[in-house]
Amino acid sequence: MTIYARAHTNIALIKYWGKADKQLMLPATSSISLTLNDFYTDTAVTFDATLSEDQFILNDQPQSPIAVSRFLDHVRKLADIKARARVISLNHVPTAAGLASSASAFAALALAASRAAGLNLSPIDLSRLARRGSGSATRSIFGGAVIWHRGFDDASSFAEPLAIQPTLPLRMLVVTVSDQKKAVSSRTGMANTAATSPYYQAWVQANEALISPMITALAEDDFATIGALTELSSMRMHAAIMAEEPPFTYFLPETLRAWQLVQEQRRLGIPAFVTMDAGPNVKILTTAPYVDVLMTALRPAFGDRILSTQLGPDAQVITKEQ
Ligand code: PMV
Repeated sequence: MTIYARAHTNIALIKYWGKADKQLMLPATSSISLTLNDFYTDTAVTFDATLSEDQFILNDQPQSPIAVSRFLDHVRKLADIKARARVISLNHVPTAAGLASSASAFAALALAASRAAGLNLSPIDLSRLARRGSGSATRSIFGGAVIWHRGFDDASSFAEPLAIQPTLPLRMLVVTVSDQKKAVSSRTGMANTAATSPYYQAWVQANEALISPMITALAEDDFATIGALTELSSMRMHAAIMAEEPPFTYFLPETLRAWQLVQEQRRLGIPAFVTMDAGPNVKILTTAPYVDVLMTALRPAFGDRILSTQLGPDAQVITKEQ
């Protein structure tokens, strides 16, 4: 039987950067994210006893199935089956936006593959399974504002929606600075930071300390604090990265330009804050009434390379036609 699933990508407000256990994919810190509505992955999985190896097709192009196979091995073990699978994925993450799609990809794969293998996992167990594919996928099982508890073993490291969700009309603007494949993957990047940045331990401690204030700020709809903590977590992560040996940064000149434009708007009283991941693109956190004014301020520099989105839903099983 073929199962189709859809999962949405997410952007961390309090970042995950560094592993406590590479084998189990346990993170060094907890993290908090917003699931986004307009960027998602649809994945179809069919286990087929006649296949001699797993097959993976992404956006109509056959891919090396190595990472998918490694992930499916976890599913096969859980379901106690041997069959290989056909995996067909479509990314509705505009390639030009250069957004990471591993979060939505592994969350959709976790849901579709587990159901296709006959498992009916709880959302928390799905989140633990998605974690094996990519850390950020742990959070994409859930919609809205999500926390990934770092935990201390396989059972305790999972994501769940925050108990008190913000009611603010949160918006994320995605500014595409570059649509090139990232220079250093997040997996390699975080390993480099942990191994060579003298600020790595400080980053871990400082970032974990932002979790509890962020939970409170989101519960209280305190946008000024949500935004300030978001920018702080991201820039502290990038500072730790820059101090690696040899030094490295994901920033490009236009990244700083976008950050400066947002800071200018903030001085003018517009509530907007910046966050960046393992790439040069800039995501701007704001609320609905300020989207237009921010678009107007950014358009001279970035034209139509700005997309706006709101909070998205849980990962779901879908019918083929959706
Ligand atoms: O789990 P990965 O490999 O997609 O790494 C995610 C790393 C960041 O996007 C930079 C931060 C985060 O928490 O999503």
